[in-house]
Amino acid sequence: MTATATAGPERPRRLQAQGIHVAFGGIKALTGVDLTIRRGEVMGLIGPNGAGKTTLVNVLTGFQAPTEGRVLLEDRVLQGMKARDVARAGIARSFQAARLFRDMTVEENLVVAGLGTGLSRRQARERAHEIIDWIGCAPIAATICDSLSYGDERRISIARALAMGPSFALLDEPASGMNESECAALMQVISELPARFDCGVLLIEHNMTVIMGVCQRIHVLDGGRSLAEGTPDEVQANPAVRRAYLGEKADHTELVI
Ligand SMILES: Nc1ncnc2c1ncn2[C@@H]1O[C@H](COP(=O)(O)OP(=O)(O)O)[C@@H](O)[C@H]1O
Ligand SMILES: [Mg+2]
Repeated sequence: MTATATAGPERPRRLQAQGIHVAFGGIKALTGVDLTIRRGEVMGLIGPNGAGKTTLVNVLTGFQAPTEGRVLLEDRVLQGMKARDVARAGIARSFQAARLFRDMTVEENLVVAGLGTGLSRRQARERAHEIIDWIGCAPIAATICDSLSYGDERRISIARALAMGPSFALLDEPASGMNESECAALMQVISELPARFDCGVLLIEHNMTVIMGVCQRIHVLDGGRSLAEGTPDEVQANPAVRRAYLGEKADHTELVI
């Protein structure tokens, strides 16, 4: 554990979604989904486009109220809380589209995130520097975010989530648009997160190399319902998962998405 983790014995061990339903008018985005993310693990969340992955993250982070169901951080009920309060409770997210303050520097974006969780300016700056050094972004610390490359923008979006010192970090397609070497660096970063930040990670990703490489467990959604959950090997071998991704007639031996 490092100075980055605001760790203590009271840190929550589980973030749970229980029986989550979300309907948008006639569209059922989620139907009875149960998901538990444990502190110390990287949990993958996969499924075809429109499966409900982002909606589930929105529910877990207070951006979307469930039509039915509960969200629990250990024993604490989160549903009904504002997104800002959920973030303060220790749940951070990165968005599919990075939402950085574009006219601020990389460092300022991270400091603001730390301040938002109640750190002093000095503490927020220390944490920002530690994260920037760790993810290899020191050369761009003073760069205005508006002029970042796409890959850097995505990395900083994750860094900003971590600057909040979360118990759980929910990452929505962090590798999208990254090239192979950026993906490899990201995999390294994500696999180190649980130990370094004493947190749990939920990783949404279409890149199966990334998912299979860093997740201890994977949850599969399809059409708003849970299709399967298990280790990478179990999920890859699951016939229902293979059908969802590959179609009934698939005779592939490997799940390639
Ligand atoms: N704000 C919204 N209003 C109406 N429908 C939505 C909204 N957000 C998502 N949906 C619908 O809910 C379903 C799940 O979407 P989403 O959670 O974004 O899926 P994923 O992230 O797995 O691609 C889709 O059918 C999508 O069109
Ligand atoms: Mg999505």
